[in-house]
Amino acid sequence: MARVSYTLESLANAKPGELSEHLERGSIVYFPRCPFNLPSVEDLEFLRREMPGRLARKNVSYHHESGILSGARGSSTIAARVAEILRGHNARVKDFLGRVIPRLAPNWEPATSSFRPLEEKGRGLASHASNELLHIDAGAYGATHGDRILRFFVNINPEQDRVWASKGTFAELFPKHAAEAGFAEARTSLSPSLPEKIYSAAVHALARAIPTSRLLDTSPYDRAMRRFHNFMKDSILFQQSRDGYVEFSFPPYSAWMVFTDMTSHACLEGRFALVDTFIVPLTNCRFRELAPMGILESVGSPPRP
Ligand SMILES: [Fe+2]
Repeated sequence: MARVSYTLESLANAKPGELSEHLERGSIVYFPRCPFNLPSVEDLEFLRREMPGRLARKNVSYHHESGILSGARGSSTIAARVAEILRGHNARVKDFLGRVIPRLAPNWEPATSSFRPLEEKGRGLASHASNELLHIDAGAYGATHGDRILRFFVNINPEQDRVWASKGTFAELFPKHAAEAGFAEARTSLSPSLPEKIYSAAVHALARAIPTSRLLDTSPYDRAMRRFHNFMKDSILFQQSRDGYVEFSFPPYSAWMVFTDMTSHACLEGRFALVDTFIVPLTNCRFRELAPMGILESVGSPPRP
């Protein structure tokens, strides 16, 4: 896996579909300088100054589906300002992505816009929630049924790099570690059973009234991905091995995007990042065989019950 860098000039000269293809192949698409306007200097300063002391959860997150801000303590005036900053930033991210990766955009779903106010190094979160351990993203937004998790990051720390590690893509890691992760040898179907389809449809209907109920959804695909996510975080051997290990530094005000359901990542250090998450329909992907669903279909199988 690689990090592909775009300045404003090389972005203007990119071929149609070029950035989408990099993403689908598991590359981190990197912008040494965020290629669109960030929130105002005052708003960035407000987030950095006010949010660390008001954090009530892992991150401060604005949920687009429900219009709810979670993770921040404080007055409604503070919450309204944070939500407005995150919504405004998300609108600019969406506008930019709509221009540079238009093939991936139809029917995508903006999931959350988050601000990460704390230093990641030594944060000491429970292992399955830790950003410091190498992992692929799975299950954080309920079931995706094979749809993709695309994330756009901006380092808004004026002085400190954000540092990531990776050990490659799901296509590289799954065949090597499937057995250790508890996947059966015989390949079986990733298609949900009829009762599961009915359950998912019911959750989907409920989620229109109560958006958080989408977290109740599940599918054979999502359980497989969650199992692999947990294996990666739980295995000391996997975490300590240097096989395929690379580190990337993201300087102040740089930006990057990646399919985090595909490209393994850990945040080793850094404080103050904006993170926008989109659920991209698998049908928008040109290279289904490289997507986790394609890899599971060709190599693996759902976990043993
Ligand atoms: Fe992650």
